[in-house]
Amino acid sequence: LPATLLCLAFGYLLGSIPFGLILTRMAGLGDVRKIGSGNIGATNVLRTGNKKLAAATLLLDALKGTAAAAIASLWGVEAGIAAGLAAFLGHLFPVWLSFKGGKGVATYIGILLGLAPLMVPAFAAIWLASAKITRYSSLSALVATAIMPIALYVTGYGKIALLFALMTVITWIKHRANIQRLLSGTESRIGEKG
Ligand code: G3P
Repeated sequence: LPATLLCLAFGYLLGSIPFGLILTRMAGLGDVRKIGSGNIGATNVLRTGNKKLAAATLLLDALKGTAAAAIASLWGVEAGIAAGLAAFLGHLFPVWLSFKGGKGVATYIGILLGLAPLMVPAFAAIWLASAKITRYSSLSALVATAIMPIALYVTGYGKIALLFALMTVITWIKHRANIQRLLSGTESRIGEKG
């Protein structure tokens, strides 16, 4: 049990580092929560107009999930799953930001990289194809995260598929404002300031 608690705490602490907020502040762009969708993720950092910062946010928000899941996995797949879930929850509900964190897509990909790296190209392909066709970051994430647990399940990832099913449900809930905007045709497209 203490080992599990350690995995959860380690994952949560890593996941709760709000890289989008930190990087935009360091770059002197102010508070990313005051622009666009108000989210702290890479998509909203892109609305500052700084593509490199958005890419760095995507990378770091992903890699914190990878690190949590991959390091904990040294103690077994269950530990990796626990730390991955904790990192995901840390990103979405960081204690440092009154539990108002991101929507989880970058961290989801990072945890995928840590636990089932062969599935990352599939996720990327689905996201990129959808983004190319629709220009919606949120919709592309909704589509890719809907497919991923099924893809993991049919390729034999059992417990890991279950983790991703849970994370998909949580990230969809976090995207509820995006879903409403998509349905009403008011969601901003990639490259628009929103
Ligand atoms: O998945 C992308 C996403 O999380 C949408 O971000 O800033 O458009 O709400 P945003």
